[in-house]
Amino acid sequence: MFLQQSLEDHFGEDITFDDKADEVQLINYLINNAAERSSFKRSKKIMRSLPGGAYPLKISETPYIKRKHEEIPKRLITQPEVGSIANCDACHQDASKGIYDDDEMQIPNARLFNYD
Ligand code: HEC
Repeated sequence: MFLQQSLEDHFGEDITFDDKADEVQLINYLINNAAERSSFKRSKKIMRSLPGGAYPLKISETPYIKRKHEEIPKRLITQPEVGSIANCDACHQDASKGIYDDDEMQIPNARLFNYD
């Protein structure tokens, strides 16, 4: 199965579970909450931004998310406190709750880098 293979090689890491029930739960969660099934505003925006049939493996490579972050200077993303754009909660404090509004967004050391 495609998703199980992905767990064995998740961008170079094996993240398979010892307990297969947990693995099934995770896979079902991912399928049921995928952007194409979600009614959330941002999921729809992400889906609308995709050219027909193109499904990037990373959310950070979808046109909507790329567009939202294209003005951030590289040095703010590569600094140790962030590391990469995939580290969503380094800047979006409430990312774990699915909140990405401006009010809950703070790039670490933005002032030091003269960006605010
Ligand atoms: C280096 C800090 C940083 C990281 C890391 C980051 N973001 Fe952002 N994000 C921003 C900034 C700055 C904006 C633009 C300001 C805004 O509109 O909130 C933004 C905007 C957004 C928006 C649009 C918010 C809006 O109201 O228009 C979404 C959605 C979003 N980010 C999701 C993500 C996701 C998902 C990730 C991880 C894959 C991520 N971000 C990683 C800084 C970051």
